[in-house]
Amino acid sequence: MNPKRQSHVFTDNLNSLQSHILAEEARHPHAAGDFSWIVSAIGLGAKAIANKVRRARLEGVLGDFGTSNVQGEQQQSMDVIANEILIRCLGSRANIAVIASEEDEEPTILRKGSEGGKYCVLFDPLDGSSNLDVCGPVGTIFSVLRNNPDESDAERTVCRAGCHQVAAGYILYGPSTALVMTTGRGTDLFELDPYLGSFILVKAGLQIPPRHKVYSINEAYVDSFPKSYQDYLLHCHKSGYSSRYIGALVADVHRILMSGGIFLYPPTAAHPNGKLRLLYEANPIAMIVEQAGGRCMSGPCRTLDVQPNKLHQRVPLMVGSSLEVEDAMRFTAQD
Ligand code: AHG
Ligand code: MN
Ligand code: MN
Repeated sequence: MNPKRQSHVFTDNLNSLQSHILAEEARHPHAAGDFSWIVSAIGLGAKAIANKVRRARLEGVLGDFGTSNVQGEQQQSMDVIANEILIRCLGSRANIAVIASEEDEEPTILRKGSEGGKYCVLFDPLDGSSNLDVCGPVGTIFSVLRNNPDESDAERTVCRAGCHQVAAGYILYGPSTALVMTTGRGTDLFELDPYLGSFILVKAGLQIPPRHKVYSINEAYVDSFPKSYQDYLLHCHKSGYSSRYIGALVADVHRILMSGGIFLYPPTAAHPNGKLRLLYEANPIAMIVEQAGGRCMSGPCRTLDVQPNKLHQRVPLMVGSSLEVEDAMRFTAQD
């Protein structure tokens, strides 16, 4: 039968993450299929984590693991499980040189450039994990950089400005399992079809509305925000804004990606440089949002231009609809 013959009876969407990435690679004659291996590892890891997240209470793996991570935060059992799942899935891919996780103090060198290590993958294996005990949304965030075969120090290899990312994405474990990804040619949305066991492309080229009067911030810390952020919030209170805050970066950003608004995590007394980590939270989110027409700032600097010097470095974050971020910058740019 002629494979090009369009079927008119079976019209289900079979445009999977894998076929989408292979089609993207076909547009780059020099691509050697390496990248699709990484995406398939991330997709496999995401499905395994989604399964564990949904069964966590049944399997008794909620709550604290009893250890704290390099961030000094209490690790949830699911933080550790998600981390191990991703290390297992990514570790088996022969073109990954270095992996770096929020949960591990140091990056892990899997293989040198001379042994085929072409990419570095950084990730927050479970974002917003404190939501799990109350059946709230959580996520996974990932960032892909090219390996530098001439750099022997793993931390220096991954400490590169976000504008050098070759891909970024997140998975949101909510009422459905959504995967959002960019390779620098727009931001695409996939949904896990549990019956097929595949992520299916449901929207290519997402565009964030330039304005939407919803802000997302933990106002409990308002007294320790810089005055410029306090003034911006007063402006919002007087300008008809509403507020939404889920407490998981991936969930708050996904709402903004789908309907617009602005998310802010300013400097606070507890986190004078902001709480969110640059390399595996802020940078991937910034690439995703900018590729969808939004903006992402860390203080006066475009997040993707911040030059990292530490793997677990934290930055303030202001991200979302372009006009909403520009309005906020009029208050905070002097900081
Ligand atoms: P993680 O669970 O990976 O440590 O991330 C939690 C982060 C982020 O997801 C969220 O936006 C932020 O912490 C919420 O912080 P507050 O609880 O201080 O508002
Ligand atoms: Mn996180
Ligand atoms: Mn995390």
